[in-house]
Amino acid sequence: MDLGLKGKNVLVVASSQGIGKAIAQTLVQEGSNVMLASRNEIKLNLVKEELELYESGKVDWVQCDLTKPEEIKAMVEKTVNRFGGLDILVNNAGGPPAGGFEDMDDEKWNAAFELNLLSYIRVIRAALPHLKENGGRIINIASSSIREPIPGLILSNTFRMGIVGLAKTLADEFAPYNILVNTVAPGRILTERISQLDEVNAVKSGKTLDEVARTAEDAIPLKRSGTPEEFAKVVAFLVSDANTYMTGSSFFVDGGKLRSV
Ligand SMILES: NC(=O)c1ccc[n+]([C@@H]2O[C@H](COP(=O)([O-])OP(=O)(O)OC[C@H]3O[C@@H](n4cnc5c(N)ncnc54)[C@H](OP(=O)(O)O)[C@@H]3O)[C@@H](O)[C@H]2O)c1
Repeated sequence: MDLGLKGKNVLVVASSQGIGKAIAQTLVQEGSNVMLASRNEIKLNLVKEELELYESGKVDWVQCDLTKPEEIKAMVEKTVNRFGGLDILVNNAGGPPAGGFEDMDDEKWNAAFELNLLSYIRVIRAALPHLKENGGRIINIASSSIREPIPGLILSNTFRMGIVGLAKTLADEFAPYNILVNTVAPGRILTERISQLDEVNAVKSGKTLDEVARTAEDAIPLKRSGTPEEFAKVVAFLVSDANTYMTGSSFFVDGGKLRSV
C-alpha cells in the first residue's frame, strides 16, 4: 500500500528520543520532510544526523520548550519556512511526574496542565492556518490512561483525558477544512519514560527493576513491552493518505493490555 507520505511536510513535537523520535524516523523513511523539536539541541542534532542516513525526506530541528508560548510559535514558523508548508502535525510532550493526589500542589498541577494539555492547544493554534491550506492531519500522543486511569499517575490521568475531549471537538470543527484529528495512546512502549516509571515503582514496592518490568509485562496479553517503532507504524498510517475516513477517534497500542472494550 502506498501511504502517500513522500514529500509531506511534518512537524513531530518532542522528538529527540522515544516515541516522538520513532515517529520522525518512520515518516522520514516514508519520504516525508520532518522537523524535529524539543529542548535539547545536542540530542536533536544527533537524531537529525541519524535520520539523514536514510537519504530520504529532509530533516531539520528546532529547539523548543513547550512551556514557552513564543517558542511554540517560532517552532511552527521555522517548519513552514524550511519546508514551504505544513501537512501533518504530531503533538507530543514529556510525561508529567508520577504521584497521587496528596503529592501534588498547585505548582505541579499548573506545570502538568501547561506541558500536557495547554502545549497541545498552543501548537495546534499556531499550526492551524497552515494545515487549513490543503487539509491535513493532527495526531495527539496521549496514554492508555485516557481509557483506564493508572494508579500513581494522577497528573497523566487528569490532563490526557482533556486531550481526548479536545481532539473529538476539533475533529468536528476542522472537518470542513479536511483536517483529520486523532489520538494515539501508548500502553507500555519501551522508552526512557518507562525506565523512569519502573524506577519509581521499584522504590515504592521494594522490588527490583527486573521484577517490576516482569510484573508489568505479565499483565500484557502479548507478554512483552512494545517498541517505539511498532507505535510509530500506527501513527504513520493515520497521518497518511491511506487514512481518509478516520477522525475524532482514539487508538491504543498496548499489546492487548486494556481490559475495557
Ligand atoms: N512510553 C510509553 O509507554 C508511554 C505510555 C503512556 C504515555 N506515554 C507518554 O507519551 C509521551 C512520549 O513518551 P516517551 O516514552 O517517548 O517519552 P520520553 O522518552 O520521556 O521522551 C519525551 C520527549 O519529550 C521531550 N520533552 C520533554 N519536556 C519537554 C518540553 N518542556 N519541551 C519540549 N520537549 C520536551 C523530550 O525531549 P528533550 O528532553 O530534548 O526536551 C523527549 O524528546 C510522554 O508524554 C509519555 O508520558 C508514554
